[in-house]
This record gives sequence, C-alpha cells and structure tokens, in this order.
Amino acid sequence: MRIKEIYNLAINKGIEADFRGKEGVEKFLKRKKEKYERLSEKEKEEFDLEALENPYLDSRILNISQDKEIKKILVGIDIEPAEILLAKEIGDIDLVISHHPLGKGLANLSDVMKLQCDILNQYGVPINIAEGLMKERIEEVARGVNRINHQRTVDTAKILGFNLICLHTACDNLAAKYLKDKIEKEKFERVEDLMNFLKEIPEYKEALKLGAGPKIFTGDPERRCGKISVAEITGGTEPSPKIYEKIAQAGIGTVIGMHMGEESRKEAEASNLNIVIAGHMSSDSLGVNLFLDELEKRGIKIVSCSGLIRKKRLKENKFSFRASSH
Ligand SMILES: [Fe+2]
Repeated sequence: MRIKEIYNLAINKGIEADFRGKEGVEKFLKRKKEKYERLSEKEKEEFDLEALENPYLDSRILNISQDKEIKKILVGIDIEPAEILLAKEIGDIDLVISHHPLGKGLANLSDVMKLQCDILNQYGVPINIAEGLMKERIEEVARGVNRINHQRTVDTAKILGFNLICLHTACDNLAAKYLKDKIEKEKFERVEDLMNFLKEIPEYKEALKLGAGPKIFTGDPERRCGKISVAEITGGTEPSPKIYEKIAQAGIGTVIGMHMGEESRKEAEASNLNIVIAGHMSSDSLGVNLFLDELEKRGIKIVSCSGLIRKKRLKENKFSFRASSH
C-alpha cells in the first residue's frame, strides 16, 4: 500500500464508524462546500481545501519524503522528535503514524468537535443546548492549540526524510463504535458490571497491569448504570464541564470517557452521573488497533511505541489470512 491508500482507508473506516452515519458526514461536507462557494476570492485562497473532502481535519498526511510501497510502520499515540529518531534507529521504517494530531492536524483539532453536538443530540441533549455549549468549548480549544509549536515533529520528519501521517478522530470513531455496539448488546445493570466488561477488553486488561486500568471517577460500583453514553470517546477532546447537567437531564445515567478534568468531574458528580473513565492511552490504543488490523491483513509490519498497547483482533475476521496475501 502507498501512503495515500493507507490514509484514505483510515478516513473511510472512520466514516463507516461515524455516529452521524454516512449521510450525516456527507451533509457536513456539503455544508462546508456551500460555505466555500460563498467566499470571496481572497478568502478562498486562505481556505484549507482538504476540509471539502476530509471530515476529520485532525487526521492528515503531514510529510511525504518518499512515496513508496509501505512495508513497515512505526505507530505511537504521541509522536515527537524522539520517536522520529527512534524510527531512524530502527532503520527500515517506511512510514510513521501518530494517533494524536500534529502539524495542521493539531491546528485544526477543534473542527472535529462539531461531531460531539450530533452525538450528544443522539443521546437526548437538545441540539440547541449541545451547539451552544460546544461552541464555547470549541473556541476555547482553538485558542488553546493556537500557541503550540505544531510543526516541531513534522520538521524533524522532513529533515530526517521520514513519511509522517496522523490519524486521530478517524481512529477514535472506531473505538467509540466498538464500545457502543458491545455495550448496547450487553445491557449492564450496575457500574461494577460495566467495569468488569471493560476490564476484559484486551487493551484495558493490559492497562490494568500497567496501573492505568478503567476507573470510576464518580458514583460507585453498586449504583445502577441507567442509560450509558459513549459520547466522549470521539470528537476531538473533552466537552464543556457545563454539559454534564444537561446530559443528566437528557436521561443518561452513566458516561464512559477516555479522560476527564477535575472541573468536569465535580459537575458530573453534582448531577448524580456515574463517570467511568476507561483510560486514555488504552482507549486510544483500542481505536488505533482496530485500524492497524486492517493494515496487518494487507501485509504491513507494525512496530508500536509511545503508549500504544498493540492488541490484534485478526482472528475475529475469517477473511484475514486470505486478505494478507495481497
Ligand atoms: Fe487521545
């Protein structure tokens, strides 16, 4: 596979798993196109044209030094200059993949957060409230990433001649869909039942051994789950702390997240929500792994680094061995 094929596969898999559905994603892109058409020539020059095709602007091709057949990749949750040097040290790495956004992907992180409005709405939060509270938070995140040295790792990759891409929301969508499908099928009664289920998922099981297993941030094991939301597994980063009161009012009893700040935790507690924090690196690993299985099926060798807990699910797919032959 070439870099662009790997990248397109990730975006397409992300769209397939998107909670908005394929139609919802198309509508989102169509609206961007219409807005683009209305811009002045000067504004069009400044416009990021990839926004018309790619619904996840935090997932990007960041550097192509050599467009070749990709046989071996180095994949990590956070890729920094150290990991690019690691790739050099290993020697035969054709492509480096970062989960967390870098370069343009990081500068555009806030764009994917609009996805959270639709997901919150699916869980019963009125769309006007979701959009109102998310708007504030999206602007806050946009200002927050503004000061960061976005290009640092990209520049290192350029100097050392490494191909580099980042796949963020495209992979987080896979983790969110995986958890949603399993949780809706199981119908857990108590928080401890949900915790036991999470601890059986290979990435969380491994994280547990490393001291970073799933944790109950508010509520206790004895409490009933009520309706469970996985809204926070995808969509850029954490929502506004003000959203928890609205989530509780919408009829949600338990929220599963990757990570949560203290202000949000207090708000959730005040609203009597159960908060189960599945774990950051482990949840990111789950989504990345579901994509890496697709690459491994196609014969690509994977070296994991920087927090990625690599677990394969190839056996779950009976076509895996046939697919690996081409
Ligand atoms: Fe993450």
